[in-house]
Amino acid sequence: MPAHDDVAAGLVTLGGSAVQVVGETLTSYFPPPDDAARFGREAFVRLQALAGGTPLHVDWRWEQDQDWSIEWRRGLRPRRVGPFVVTPSWCKPEPLPGDHVITLDPEMAFGTGEHATTRGALRLLAEAVAPGDHVLDVGSGSGILAIAAAMLGAGHVLAAEADGDALENAGDNLRRNGVAGRVELVHALVDPDFLRRAGDGTFQVIVANVLSGVLRPLLTSFHSALAPGGRLILGGILQDESGSMLDAASAARFALCTEDVEDEWWGALLTR
Ligand SMILES: C[S@@+](CC[C@H](N)C(=O)[O-])C[C@H]1O[C@@H](n2cnc3c(N)ncnc32)[C@H](O)[C@@H]1O
Repeated sequence: MPAHDDVAAGLVTLGGSAVQVVGETLTSYFPPPDDAARFGREAFVRLQALAGGTPLHVDWRWEQDQDWSIEWRRGLRPRRVGPFVVTPSWCKPEPLPGDHVITLDPEMAFGTGEHATTRGALRLLAEAVAPGDHVLDVGSGSGILAIAAAMLGAGHVLAAEADGDALENAGDNLRRNGVAGRVELVHALVDPDFLRRAGDGTFQVIVANVLSGVLRPLLTSFHSALAPGGRLILGGILQDESGSMLDAASAARFALCTEDVEDEWWGALLTR
């Protein structure tokens, strides 16, 4: 159900752990905020906006640190996604030869591998990135896709994020995963002007796991920013929207290469 998914994604974006869904009830666990009352008010406004017309009833319960941390950790585990193993730092996964282990602890930024759109973008990145590529990560959140691109051998990754809080988390994650030297993290809203300045015709790969409403108006600029033969990965799109997104991509002179579907989410690898 789209409203469920949007609210669940919103809980994760706000810093919640893996979201449990039982019937109409979504449950998530949060690190203790400095100001609980304010956090509750602001979170409600953001979640209600994501739920559209569906009225939300939100209950907050603050638990002892000990209980909270057990519950929080219980929901997260190492996850295999294509050639990646995404793991919180307190787990010790046993990678297979050739695996890329991405270590991420849940913070306020979106992108722990707990959401299907992130997993779809990771699978498509594994197909799209070649050693030495110049990659742009649009809306880097936790930095997970930029880290993945660097691990696949990208020579340089430009990771742009509009949300200042997410940037700090991404910086920590780049260092934790040993890729800070090849990923340039910038605080920026990606728009046609940013794409022109970032490098017309210079990127081999652009990955953008953001809402379809953000992606659609950027397609022509993505085309210009890519080198000939460049690849574009789109994520954050509901399956219901895939037809109209493909029409828009085709009008912007992209050809479909691979589709990725998980649950009701759709992603695509397109070529210029
Ligand atoms: C769905 S999250 C994706 C995070 C991560 N890349 C992943 O795949 O898990 C989308 C992120 O894009 C950021 N964002 C949305 N529109 C943006 C834009 N036009 N420019 C830069 N960042 C943007 C949001 O703040 C959010 O952190």
